Amino acid sequence: GQPRGHVRPGSSGAAVQRAPQAAAPEEPGEDAEVNTGKKTFTEVQTERLEQAERTVLIKCPPKLNENKLLQYLSSHGNIKSHFFFENRGIHALIEFSEKNSIASLQDAIGVPSAAEYHVVPFKSRLFTFMLKNPVSQAAEETPLHLSPQFHIPVKDLIQKLCHADSISSQMYILLNEYQLTDENIKLRYLVCSLVRDFAHAYFPDSTVKPFGSSVNTFGKLGCDVDMFLDFRDTQKHAAKMKKGPFEMEYQMKRLPSERLATQKILSVIGDCLDNFGPGCVSVQKILNARCPLVKFSHQPTGFQCDLSVSNSIAIKSSELLYIYGCLDSRVRALVFSVRCWARVHGLTNSIPGTWITNFSLTMMVMFFLQRRSPPIIPTLDQLKELADQKDKLVIGGYDCSFVSDLSKIKRTNNTETLDVLLGDFFEYYGNFDFRRNSINLRKGKEVNKPESSPLYIWNPFEQDLNISKNVNQPQLEKFVAMARESAWILRKEEKAQQMINKEPWGLAALLIPFGKSNSNKMKNRMKGIGSETIRNLLDSLKLNNPNSLQKAVGK
Ligand code: GTP
Ligand code: MG
Repeated sequence: GQPRGHVRPGSSGAAVQRAPQAAAPEEPGEDAEVNTGKKTFTEVQTERLEQAERTVLIKCPPKLNENKLLQYLSSHGNIKSHFFFENRGIHALIEFSEKNSIASLQDAIGVPSAAEYHVVPFKSRLFTFMLKNPVSQAAEETPLHLSPQFHIPVKDLIQKLCHADSISSQMYILLNEYQLTDENIKLRYLVCSLVRDFAHAYFPDSTVKPFGSSVNTFGKLGCDVDMFLDFRDTQKHAAKMKKGPFEMEYQMKRLPSERLATQKILSVIGDCLDNFGPGCVSVQKILNARCPLVKFSHQPTGFQCDLSVSNSIAIKSSELLYIYGCLDSRVRALVFSVRCWARVHGLTNSIPGTWITNFSLTMMVMFFLQRRSPPIIPTLDQLKELADQKDKLVIGGYDCSFVSDLSKIKRTNNTETLDVLLGDFFEYYGNFDFRRNSINLRKGKEVNKPESSPLYIWNPFEQDLNISKNVNQPQLEKFVAMARESAWILRKEEKAQQMINKEPWGLAALLIPFGKSNSNKMKNRMKGIGSETIRNLLDSLKLNNPNSLQKAVGK
């Protein structure tokens, strides 16, 4: 049972007159700026969270008169921006200029009579737009522009890539098709803000913030929303507490461990979302996990959400990736291509297991970019040197400081094309000595593995942890084999012929599963090829020697 309201005009006469302003677009460039990377991670988050608090979601009838909707809404205040999207029907996201417009809209709606609904009297920010007379509503109907919330299927992507003129442009096409749109980001922050409304009932000073791929610039359309409950905005209280003679039983009963506190908090919030959260379905409390969380699906936006309690290390990881993603346009293009490639070949999976995670894979790309000559992105130690006083942060004894101001970071002189980088990425990891070496982004160096996990990627902040501890030997071997195969495909220089034959080439060829037929084809091709480059490459990859693969990955 989700409480639903009919949007009704507060004072309909005025609403009609104010209509043109209601539909006025927001200041030019304002939203674009959020994504240009000029702003610090914290600035973007603060701005987006504030924006989300002025935002409501409206379920619309299939035949909608956009102007009518905006006219009604404008009687509650100026609309700063809006867009429509399809998710089990048409929805509108409406951003008001002022937060109090939402209260005005909520107050204009009566509580449904008890005979019809048995409601929990919680005022939500989800509304349904219904007019008594649907005929007049559909009049002057103009087609709505629907903002896409999902990326195109891989097979359609492959088609598009075939028309590009270089691998580099293929990679940018993939990036453009897959990356989060401004609209999708607004929806993600809105979900966090809606969950916050519930958390407020218990913890009035808490906030709910997104982290992970929703905010680190590497999210693709359709990825989950990782969010956490943050109590750290209660700093003002902490500062006061030290001064006076009082100590407060702080918000809750004293518990013997932080983990137990986290579990209790998530348990009540989980129940609350399950019982009263409009559109929150399939709520699952996973409290015994290493990182306790509540999973749920938010139907109105279609997002799969993971709610946990404030995890400073994860936020810092998101910020670090955000910085890397903003520094150079090649970074995101390469990560998106590699992630898509890994998904197609079953190297990553949406269910947890012994697979490489997207997070680990992204770190591997970052490390590769640190290893270029000259490096494309700085090491974490270099970012730490640039940190100023306000960037200083120690979490659990680990120094997690690094610069937040992007303008302080010197941009690279490296001008390598993505064509080169993609091929070299596969070659680099196809030949990486995983048996002996580990990946360390803090130093930007391959260092001896401290223990025997097949794949060892240092957690950049908790330095004694391996972020890819879950990866087993067969999965690593598969990754190396796929990387070698891909390096080979990219190097074989058949682009012209493939384009004539209308066969997928370059990145497109890498996004088709490598079947058995493919490897037979490969052997036949090898016989006929005299090219020095390819022979050298084959030597270096030692494809003919079945032991070499196992040797490299440590079997
Ligand atoms: P998607 O696959 O697009 O969801 O990428 P993601 O980066 O959001 O990954 P995921 O949802 O699995 O995890 C969310 C965030 O949790 C990551 O961005 C990391 O900050 C953190 N995280 C995930 N896995 C690990 C891990 O193994 N170790 C550490 N330290 N942090 C992790
Ligand atoms: Mg995620």
